[in-house]
Amino acid sequence: MSTSQNIKDQLHLTDEVLAATPTPFYFYDLGLLDSTLECINSEIAGYPYVVHYAVKANGNPRLLSEIARYGMGADLVSGGEILAALQAGFPPGLMNYSGVGKTDREICIGLEHGIGIFNVESLPELEVIDQLAGSMGKAVRVAIRVNPDIDAHTHRYITTGTADDKFGISIDRLGQAVELARSLPHLHLSGLHFHLGSQMTDMRPYVMLCDVINGLLDHYEEQGITFEFINVGGGLGIDYDDPDEHPMADFGQYFGVFKRHLRLRPHQQLHFELGRAIVGQCGSLISRVVFVKEARSKRFVILDAGMTDLVRPALYHARHQVQNLTAGCSGGQETYDVVGPVCESTDVLARDCRLPVTHRGDIIAIRSAGAYGESMASTYNMRSLPLSCFTKP
Ligand code: LLP
Repeated sequence: MSTSQNIKDQLHLTDEVLAATPTPFYFYDLGLLDSTLECINSEIAGYPYVVHYAVKANGNPRLLSEIARYGMGADLVSGGEILAALQAGFPPGLMNYSGVGKTDREICIGLEHGIGIFNVESLPELEVIDQLAGSMGKAVRVAIRVNPDIDAHTHRYITTGTADDKFGISIDRLGQAVELARSLPHLHLSGLHFHLGSQMTDMRPYVMLCDVINGLLDHYEEQGITFEFINVGGGLGIDYDDPDEHPMADFGQYFGVFKRHLRLRPHQQLHFELGRAIVGQCGSLISRVVFVKEARSKRFVILDAGMTDLVRPALYHARHQVQNLTAGCSGGQETYDVVGPVCESTDVLARDCRLPVTHRGDIIAIRSAGAYGESMASTYNMRSLPLSCFTKP
């Protein structure tokens, strides 16, 4: 049975950090981040693979510079993310810029800084990028984002590659987009881009994606059209139920799918845009119990962290492990709803959670919160944004 000290050791969270940092705060284990990045780099070594970190998962400047040190590219979705990635030291040539609604201003920021690739999601966007690039006397590499109509078997709100989603260009319109991109003078059509969805733990949709891509490559090759790279997006899931047992995603299995099923052409690169699998497990949200409250049929643990700090449970019914760092796991257990202080009934971080008997002042860790935690935090109810703090073992 884990003691309170065991749990803190596992997280590499020291009593000094706890004493010095006001709750709530995000705590990042940079040792785990480093091992994760090393594991990715060793899986792709010897293959023409390039991993772009999806900055939307977590744009914390310290994490960004740590990731940039490992030679990764950056996958960006706004002018703000472009500037943050430049600041952190990602090379512009290894950046790609995605998004269905890039504004003219954001496109110009990308062009000014020489972003490597624009992932384009519609015909009008191709035309606008061409015009803006022309007016700046530049030529730009683009990839067309294809909507492959494959169900990622993940939560409806984080599925992106089916025909009803707003993302990408459907396969039946792809011919038109390819023709337009090739005809526009300031664009160089370099790749095809795909993204199925997020938190995917079933690899079968990726196998289906490889089949779709193989078919498209054959089709375009017959027409004498080749692509410098294929980008298969991100989406690899992590183990939210047992982060200690699986502190890293199964990168071997994931990259293995593409190694086995995708028929890359000679000199063709394969690009990935991973977010959650890189930063998800290295972050925990650390919070303090404000009150424990008994209602008619429930017991509530009320934290000083809520949906403004971590919105995933309220927005996607996401489950995160909750641990009491003060009580450890010893002694009797109770069932609690762990809630935040925000004036919304969806401000629940975990329902029917088994915890040791919990008291006012206890420190609580909400695990696997490194991805889409801090980056989705808000100031609703005029609350402060959570702080962040880091450790290396
Ligand atoms: N590439 C594209 C085009 C994307 O839209 C996304 C995520 C990624 C890459 C990175 O996906 P990842 O490897 O992190 O799964 N807020 C939600 C997840 C939204 C994902 C949005 N797109 C959550 O908290 O589960």
